[in-house]
Amino acid sequence: MSIREQEVDQARERAGVLRWLEGAVASSVSRGELLQQTVDLIHSKLPTYNWVGFYMLDPTDSSMLELGPFAGAATPHTRIPVTEGICGAAVAQGETVVIDDVNSDPRYLSCSIETKSEIVVPIRAHGAIIGEIDIDSHTAAAFGREDRVFVERCAEILGGYFGGEGFRGRPFR
Ligand code: SME
Repeated sequence: MSIREQEVDQARERAGVLRWLEGAVASSVSRGELLQQTVDLIHSKLPTYNWVGFYMLDPTDSSMLELGPFAGAATPHTRIPVTEGICGAAVAQGETVVIDDVNSDPRYLSCSIETKSEIVVPIRAHGAIIGEIDIDSHTAAAFGREDRVFVERCAEILGGYFGGEGFRGRPFR
């Protein structure tokens, strides 16, 4: 497949994930199942997205992110203070963080020696950050403008879901 064909293919896959997610949030699936199915689908459809997971703010301690459903290798980082890591930076800055070369960023907390780039996108419900989507790639600079738009749209759909169902307490248990 040429690079152009791969781009068209990935754009099609991203659009398919968004269509699926819009349907899934309108179904009666549980929070935990919804988040697990979301990461499994994104991980299986987009070949450079090698680890896809959720970190959600601990409802009893908003200075701490807790690992939620994920697809990919197990990570030692099951709880991350918002003062640490790329994951913490996305909450502290209140915006998407894209790192093209994780090894050149001193904030980076390593999950796999194979990871080369990362994107972290906050999820908001009623304007407040409740968690984030974290994606790692074994490819350097894997997350371009279209990836960012795609992951931000996923976060927006999920934020609407959590907000719409009167989110309180734990998002995935
Ligand atoms: N790299 C993240 C830690 C989470 S693992 O990648 C799954 C960070 O720097 O916050």
